[in-house]
Amino acid sequence: MNETMGSWKRSCYCTQVSKEQVGQEVILMGWAHRRRDLGSLIFVFLRDRSGLIQLVFDEEDDPALFEKAGRIRNEYVLAVKGKVRARAEKDINPALETGTIEILATELKILNTSETPPFPVESETVSDALRLKYRYLDLRRPIMQRALLMKNQVTRTAREYFEANGFLDIETPILMKSTPEGARDYVVPSRVHPGNFYALPQSPQIYKQLLMVSGVDRYYQIAKCFRDEDLRANRQPEFQQIDMEMSFASQEDIMAIHEGFIQKLFHEVIGCEVALPLKRLTYQQAMERYGSDKPDTRFGMEIMDIAPAVKDCELKVFQDAIAQNGRVCAINAKGCAKTFSRKELDALGEIVKTYRAKGMIWFLLEEGGVRSSISKFLTSEVTAAITAQAGMETGDALFIVAGEAATTYTALGALRLELAERLKLIPEGKHELLWVVDFPMFEYDEEAKRCVAMHHPFTCPREEDLEFLESDPLRVCAQAYDMVCDGYEIGGGSIRIADQELQDRILKALGFTPERAQASFGFLLDALKLGAPPHGGMAYGLDRLVMVLGGYDNIRDVIAFPKVQSAADLMSGAPGLLEQSQLDELHLSVTQLEE
Ligand code: AMO
Repeated sequence: MNETMGSWKRSCYCTQVSKEQVGQEVILMGWAHRRRDLGSLIFVFLRDRSGLIQLVFDEEDDPALFEKAGRIRNEYVLAVKGKVRARAEKDINPALETGTIEILATELKILNTSETPPFPVESETVSDALRLKYRYLDLRRPIMQRALLMKNQVTRTAREYFEANGFLDIETPILMKSTPEGARDYVVPSRVHPGNFYALPQSPQIYKQLLMVSGVDRYYQIAKCFRDEDLRANRQPEFQQIDMEMSFASQEDIMAIHEGFIQKLFHEVIGCEVALPLKRLTYQQAMERYGSDKPDTRFGMEIMDIAPAVKDCELKVFQDAIAQNGRVCAINAKGCAKTFSRKELDALGEIVKTYRAKGMIWFLLEEGGVRSSISKFLTSEVTAAITAQAGMETGDALFIVAGEAATTYTALGALRLELAERLKLIPEGKHELLWVVDFPMFEYDEEAKRCVAMHHPFTCPREEDLEFLESDPLRVCAQAYDMVCDGYEIGGGSIRIADQELQDRILKALGFTPERAQASFGFLLDALKLGAPPHGGMAYGLDRLVMVLGGYDNIRDVIAFPKVQSAADLMSGAPGLLEQSQLDELHLSVTQLEE
């Protein structure tokens, strides 16, 4: 029979007990993390959401209590009364926050027992699948509690900041109309309207714009978003945004608000001081120097154009790239001429191929001269030109890619990140934030054979580019901005179109017929005709932000109940089948799929 807490009141969390309390009595409650029997002493690590503390049960002091402590198993729920005592110098555990003290137990209540858990909560070697199936056990780990706590700190700071700046927290619908915003929608069948479906919001984008038309002026929300897209380490099908929108504001006004926010956030959550104003790169610069629109600027190894140095080299890939307005670019891994074996160099070449580059050339400047995968094409003049252009010193390794511009940049950008990881170029604990601005308004979708919006269809083009909207849409830049931290896009936003005629032109450029535009976004187009103020905004990926702040490498670690790669929830088993009666009620029939 389990005991009850009775009149016991917890004094504090485990890690709040301090050395100053030595000699005092405390009452702690939590889980048995681990038990060790040492003859006449039993040690139990007690765990709560704050962390661990050691309990000691001494047979000599209290044989009955000692006998009871012997019944404790992992994950039993305990309430303990005891005296704080300092550990002897030799027993201090520096790995533990409470490692200089322990609790000499005087009373114990076993509030609940536990079956043997499917895995030891503290084990580092348990498969992700098992952890996710028993997520509530996984979440008992202090590192997971830390993520939940940090997320809470982030949302609290966001609320404080946006409230203090006059933003109103307003909720927007979860059941809404399917609007082609970029990703695939999650849809919900309507029982009342047979054959009709709601969509779950990919973001509150349209509604927050309508709130500006409503005169709200400044809106924010910690919003749930849903996107049926391929998952990656930094993407989940349902995630949260810190979303905001403001009226009568320029791009600079909005960016200034966010710089204030991010500075406060980094200071308050991780004690990191962010210098303002943040660095800015145009999209073009980010691509040319880092091969990415979310560059990791915590280390150098920037991409260099070495076309002028190889213009006289007979290698066909160089000549083709130069003739076809492509690029010959390189990154210099300083001091790495001897770092990689032949096999490893070949493997690095495979990486760029996954980004559709034709291959990678290595060029090593060693003491005895140059060793390269293209030695036979290198004259002494070309060798000297490459070395000079790339600023190489003896011992450096140059990696060269030639081909179509975007492919070359992206491939080298990916190689740069891989090398940084292998060469440990990123200083631990360092963060670097920047803005990427001047995004192209459109990108060409090879599959669909048409332009698609790089941000979303409601983003306002730069005024000076409007004249090219129909004649040369790909040269039009958007009034859009992304905030990037450590190689992650943590947020993005734009100035919106407040003019219905311009919105019509953009939708046309995106291939919407007037009828389809009306059917999809008619309510927004109508609103734009009824006195829409100039407005713009931005949203952070809340989970991604916490991931970056906390140094987690998978977004799953900062979401209490996440989905796996296949968008399934391993704990509840969602998604699942419906009863036939539920399907009937929703007027749905499911095509039988083969097992
Ligand atoms: P966007 O689509 O860029 O913009 O999203 C804003 C931020 O949300 C995060 N994010 C995600 N996080 C986790 N999982 C995902 N699947 C995922 N997709 C996006 C990213 C991203 O920077 N309505 C606009 C914002 C605006 O213009 O105001 C929007 O949603 O960190």
